[in-house]
This record gives sequence, structure tokens and C-alpha cells, in this order.
Amino acid sequence: MDEQKFPLNNVSEPKPPEMGRRRFLETGVWATTSVVGLTLFGTGGRFIVGDALKDKDEQWINLGEIASLSAGQMHQTAYSLRHKDAWRTVEEKGLLYVFSDDGTTYTVFSAVCTHLGCNVHWEEARDGFSCPCHDASFSRTGEVLGGPPRQALTQLEAKIEDGVLLVLV
Ligand code: FES
Repeated sequence: MDEQKFPLNNVSEPKPPEMGRRRFLETGVWATTSVVGLTLFGTGGRFIVGDALKDKDEQWINLGEIASLSAGQMHQTAYSLRHKDAWRTVEEKGLLYVFSDDGTTYTVFSAVCTHLGCNVHWEEARDGFSCPCHDASFSRTGEVLGGPPRQALTQLEAKIEDGVLLVLV
């Protein structure tokens, strides 16, 4: 049987559809809307979130001359500092505990309980810290001895410059 061949010389290559004026305008409107929407979303998101996702500025604060922080004794000290946010200034207050066994090396703890953030208290008789909120106890070196906290007290970086104890908060 003979193979039948069709004449193909009149068949033209399919052309890609041309973009008409209406389609061009629709595409332009969508592109412009998308760009404006993303810009507003970005700006609005920045306005809502502010610097909340940014790491807090750390500051060295002065805890005073080490001569006044006698060795072998726990010292409680309060601090207050200001953090500059994107458009506002936030005041931070806190309590710290400082001790030194030898008068040359100092250990500084945040008084914030690692459970839910109450302030711990130093108890000389127990030689440790206690948290009044949920009856937690910590050792002199900050380890958890009892209660709900799972983490030790936060130890802060400290240094001595010209006889003054500085701590990074
Ligand atoms: S906040 Fe300290 S034990 Fe709960």
C-alpha cells in the first residue's frame, strides 16, 4: 500500500501569539501593582516589627571600683541604662550579683531567674540564691539546685579597667 503524503508547502509555522494592547496594559498594571504592594508590605512590616528582630545593643556598665567590692562577699547592685530603638528610647533596669573569691577575678550574675524572669535573692545562710516565685534555688555559682528552672543563672562578661569593674549587659 502506498503511503499517502499531504502537501505541506501551504502550512506555515505557528506564530507565537502577539501581545495585544489590552494584554500589554493588563501586564503593566499587574507589574506596577505588585511592585507597589511589595514596597508597602516591606515598609509596613518594618514599621510594625521595628528593631525587634535586631540584636539588642550590648553596653558595658560601670559597677564601681573593685576596692569597694570586698572579696568573699556577695554584692547586689542595681543598674539602669537606655537603649536606643528605631524611634524611641527604652530604659532598662536590672539587678546583678557580684562576687569574688580572691579580689582579682569577679563573677557577675544577672538576678533574673531563668524560669520566668523573677528576681532571685541571695541567701547568705544557704550560701545560694532563691527565687520567691516558684521556690527555685541556685548555688553560689548559679547552678540550679531545685525548682522548675532548667538553666543556670546567666553569667555576664566582666572586666576590670583602671580598678573599675565593668560588665556587659
Ligand atoms: S520565676 Fe523563678 S522559679 Fe519561676
